[in-house]
Amino acid sequence: MDEHLISTINKLQDALAPLGGGSQSPIDLPQITVVGSQSSGKSSVLENIVGRDFLPRGTGIVTRRPLVLQLINRRVKKNDHSADSTTKQLIDLNIEDSNKDKPENNQGQSEDNSQEWGEFLHLPGKKFFNFDEIRQEIVRETDKVTGANAGISSVPINLRIYSPYVLTLTLVDLPGLTKVPVGDQPPDIERQIKDMLLKYISKPNAIILSVNAANTDLANSDGLKLAREVDPEGTRTIGVLTKVDLMDQGTDVIDILAGRVIPLRYGYIPVINRGQKDIERKKTIRQALEDERKYFENHPSYSSKAHYCGTPYLAKKLNSILLHHIRQTLPDIKAKIEATLKKYQSELYNLGPETMDSASSVVLSMITDFSNEYAGILDGEARELSSQEL
Ligand code: GDP
Ligand code: NA
Ligand code: MG
Repeated sequence: MDEHLISTINKLQDALAPLGGGSQSPIDLPQITVVGSQSSGKSSVLENIVGRDFLPRGTGIVTRRPLVLQLINRRVKKNDHSADSTTKQLIDLNIEDSNKDKPENNQGQSEDNSQEWGEFLHLPGKKFFNFDEIRQEIVRETDKVTGANAGISSVPINLRIYSPYVLTLTLVDLPGLTKVPVGDQPPDIERQIKDMLLKYISKPNAIILSVNAANTDLANSDGLKLAREVDPEGTRTIGVLTKVDLMDQGTDVIDILAGRVIPLRYGYIPVINRGQKDIERKKTIRQALEDERKYFENHPSYSSKAHYCGTPYLAKKLNSILLHHIRQTLPDIKAKIEATLKKYQSELYNLGPETMDSASSVVLSMITDFSNEYAGILDGEARELSSQEL
């Protein structure tokens, strides 16, 4: 039921994209929005959560359009959650043509391409099994709208990733906060990026993932400052501390984790991503996650709380925060869907059937479908919730 709930929200997000999409959507759906300074490690954190290399990343302004990333856990069998069931899953799966010459006993987990793929909203029906091609498409689509010379745009790219190895989550990667214009950037680039971020994080349904490099001073964090502008109590902000490996010897983030610096209700999670050298040496994400785990388990400051450190814990926490948030906002979402449906119906009615253009009728029928199909689910969820609360 939980996964179903998030996937319902994902479908709504897609259906509403033609109505202005992303930040302008008339219905404010819960999603996790990543903010932080340029090169603080935002894209690296997202890649580690997905477990695949697919995002443009590096020094300088790399992320220049919002990326709405929907992760969909594609579990083959309801009662089969074990990690060693790859062979069985492969046999049970409707294996795609591109992989039909692969041996059925391929134990290649996340390297096996038949179980994981991406789809862009702007390229309907095209499945990307090669994650390098996903990255190329993000770069191509970014340049198409912004030009190649460091320009930015608030028009989002929508990408879905289906995989048995991800938790169902919706994440938004955003350009980082920066102060000095480069390339084709306008003189007011700082303001423009701030406005773009604010558009996403000021919505009450946004969960703010505030990414800060641990080797910089948290009190000077522009991302956290911006998050506090829209969420002063810190009730929908979660902190991530990257680059823990680059901290000065003898220093650690324990005071931040303990809430003694800038407290957040959801707290902070320290992570370690691949550095530029690791990327040049082609360190795999799997190896990086393994090294991250070892680092926290063996470090004198973190070993006693290693369970609450690192990317896997961050992913689990985000999934549960998102579910909690969706549940809380369910009645409001339902009311807004109904109101939007009524509004479009009456607008179209006033136009008369002969003037109804195909685009609006497609949107209308999508919303009608969702409303009909999911009113039941939302009602069911709400009932389940209230009986649980009793
Ligand atoms: P973004 O601009 O915030 O999206 O940051 P990126 O994910 O593009 O990362 C910027 C640079 O920092 C890249 O060269 C990364 O390899 C590096 N980096 C990110 N996180 C870490 C980390 O935890 N440790 C180390 N050593 N380097 C990191
Ligand atoms: Na960067
Ligand atoms: Mg980035």
